[in-house]
Amino acid sequence: MSEARLLLLLLLPLSLSAVLVLAQDIEFVYTGFRGGGGGASNGNTSVSLNGVAEAENSGILRLTNETSRLLGRAFYPAGLRFRNATDGSAFSFSTAFAFAIVPEYPKLGGHGLAFTIAPTMALRGLPSQYLGLFNASDIGNSTNHLFAVEFDTVQDFEFGDINDNHVGVNINDMRSKAAAAGAYYDGDGKHDLNLKGGSTIQAWVDYDGAAKLLNVTLSPFSSKPTQPLISFPVDLSPILLDSMFVGFSSSTGLLASSHYLFGWSFKMNGVAQSLDLSALPSLPQAKKKDPTFTIATSVTGFVLFLIAAIGGVYLFYKIKNADVIEPWELQYGPHRFSYKELKKATKGFRDRELLGFGGFGKVYKGVLPRNKVEVAVKRVSHESRQGIREFVAEIASIGRLRHRNLVQLQGWCRRRGDLLLVYDYMPNGSLDRYLFEDPPKVVLSWSQRFRIIRGVASALLYLHEEWEHVVIHRDVKASNVLLDADMNGRLGDFGLAKLYEHGANPSTTRVVGTLGYLAPEMTRTGKATTSSDVFAFGAMILEVVCGRRPIEPKAQPEELILVDWVWSHWEAGSVLDVVDHRLAGDYVKHEVETAVRVGLLCSYAAASARPTMRDVVRFLDGDAALPELSSPPTDYDGKSPVGFDDFVHSYPSSFEKASSPSTARGGETAAPAVPDGRGPYSPLSPFSRVSS
Ligand SMILES: *[C@@H]1O[C@H](CO)[C@@H](O)[C@H](O)[C@H]1NC(C)=O
Ligand SMILES: *[C@@H]1O[C@H](CO)[C@@H](O)[C@H](O)[C@H]1NC(C)=O
Ligand SMILES: *[C@@H]1O[C@H](CO)[C@@H](O)[C@H](O)[C@H]1NC(C)=O
Ligand SMILES: *[C@@H]1O[C@H](CO)[C@@H](O)[C@H](O)[C@H]1NC(C)=O
Ligand SMILES: *[C@@H]1O[C@H](CO)[C@@H](O)[C@H](O)[C@H]1NC(C)=O
Ligand SMILES: *[C@@H]1O[C@H](CO)[C@@H](O)[C@H](O)[C@H]1NC(C)=O
Repeated sequence: MSEARLLLLLLLPLSLSAVLVLAQDIEFVYTGFRGGGGGASNGNTSVSLNGVAEAENSGILRLTNETSRLLGRAFYPAGLRFRNATDGSAFSFSTAFAFAIVPEYPKLGGHGLAFTIAPTMALRGLPSQYLGLFNASDIGNSTNHLFAVEFDTVQDFEFGDINDNHVGVNINDMRSKAAAAGAYYDGDGKHDLNLKGGSTIQAWVDYDGAAKLLNVTLSPFSSKPTQPLISFPVDLSPILLDSMFVGFSSSTGLLASSHYLFGWSFKMNGVAQSLDLSALPSLPQAKKKDPTFTIATSVTGFVLFLIAAIGGVYLFYKIKNADVIEPWELQYGPHRFSYKELKKATKGFRDRELLGFGGFGKVYKGVLPRNKVEVAVKRVSHESRQGIREFVAEIASIGRLRHRNLVQLQGWCRRRGDLLLVYDYMPNGSLDRYLFEDPPKVVLSWSQRFRIIRGVASALLYLHEEWEHVVIHRDVKASNVLLDADMNGRLGDFGLAKLYEHGANPSTTRVVGTLGYLAPEMTRTGKATTSSDVFAFGAMILEVVCGRRPIEPKAQPEELILVDWVWSHWEAGSVLDVVDHRLAGDYVKHEVETAVRVGLLCSYAAASARPTMRDVVRFLDGDAALPELSSPPTDYDGKSPVGFDDFVHSYPSSFEKASSPSTARGGETAAPAVPDGRGPYSPLSPFSRVSS
């Protein structure tokens, strides 16, 4: 036996950073932690730390603190053998650990933490995402060989989370295979347990390799309840590899929590010993008021008062002259950036840092000085004080939207008439650049295009139906779809258009949107609906398939309006003729047909004829059959579907602008459509990209 082990050790790849522990009955107990490098164990409190994780002097291990967008991990420093070398079956294992989650705002937690068993300590997870376990490209991939038990304090609809206080069993993915709301059992039955309540919780994870049964148990006490919270039959043999690292991972997002570990025990092929919570280090409690302290306070009271008064006056001037902060804004604390920080990040809003300008203002590239994270900063001017509170509240709630196909809003800053919005930086720019650039630098392949269409569809479905309340995007178009490092489409600028609809004068409603994407009813009623988003999405699909804009002023008259042109080819049975010629015939025919049909269906002039985003997602996924297209989408009391006539007649100047050579990217002019709609914020500048 020992010879076999020695042989295994010799056969291990040299790149393995830590020694593989072969002892089959390994057991360890941490009753306090000390950070350390890979494997360099001194005493027995050392763990390998990663990200911002830190072992405090008290012996408490802090994975993250209350700063947003952090990542912290801690692992047992050596790899462990988790399966039988002869038959490859997973061993039984058992672990107990004590943790606490202290959110910055008691009701709104950070992301949570996960106990994990992974083939490497260097997981690909990024801060602010997926508990630091995965990144957008490896999530869900069976090659991850990653097992995790998540203690999740955010409800993420993308992964079907049951609530914002749950425990889940995750295998290679964030979508839990089994989950339960935080709770524990004792002699009296079941009790709810708030994971983010800030108090110490003990968790046990026990796997029985023979019975292939995984149990997860929680309790706020030292002894283990007899009844587990989750008892889930699963065979971990295909997941666990020969050498695996065991530890914890955690991340914070826009909302942050401190994630702490106080103790941890582990045993292979046996039962881990439960932790005695009273013997572990604990978080300092809020100090009780000491009478001598009160007396001392009154003696120094006057001095303190003076300092406070001077401070107050100073603050008053500072606020007056710098960022505008009103008391109600403080409740959105973590989202707020200081103007100074953003100024530094964008090198003083230098034109050289300009990424472009969209309908709502200039967009700058920036690097946040505190963590060197790249961001895009959008500077929106807004003179009206009315509505801004409502708007900031909306921004704050938008900041809680999380979906892999949305551009994440990180926060904002307000200064005089300016509102600065900070977004994740998308290295590949906007979709329109790839579709319309002539000659193109990069041609998007069909599979990339179809993935973008499906991604944006799922983001819109999330906004319309899967979030707490309905969010209407109001300005879906190719230039609002940004591409991340992996060329996934992400929808940006959601909710912004709303700000501009509430003009200074509430009795006038302006239509905000973009020529060619505006549903016909919008130009009449001025009211945005989920159906008008569907309409704009239809226009975007056709753009992506055909590689041209919804309205191409320079085209032949019969090709002027994209929907009409595509419809005529559809009817004539020559729909493949509309596909972007830059693809040179390299596409999947049935996917193109599906995309075109969905695009046409969404473009129906009558809102009632359009599908919902849920239907759209089903059609695109091939989960539902598409209805037949019987009549042309434009057949609606003689008007074209884009409200084009309305524009041409009431706003010849917008149209001319759109077609003039100096803004050849025309068609993107966000034009007020109601005749008296020219208010202080319009006309919105036509989009043009500043090449760097
Ligand atoms: C640390 O030492 C204690 C007592 O000596 C022992 O019981 C425990 O297993 C050790 N822990 C580790 C991680 O080696
Ligand atoms: C949290 O940790 C980060 C990185 O260690 C540090 O920059 C930041 O100041 C800390 N925040 C707080 C609130 O302690
Ligand atoms: C590994 O599996 C073989 C064959 O099933 C068995 O004989 C052996 O005892 C197992 N070893 C351990 C350590 O479980
Ligand atoms: C995910 O990680 C892999 C490997 O480190 C990397 O190549 C890829 O770009 C990452 N994806 C994202 C979206 O960060
Ligand atoms: C899973 O990961 C492997 C290796 O990293 C990669 O080759 C494969 O394409 C990925 N599969 C999917 C579905 O992303
Ligand atoms: C898991 O829980 C069940 C009760 O639901 C119990 O019968 C079983 O022994 C437990 N297994 C382990 C490994 O703790």
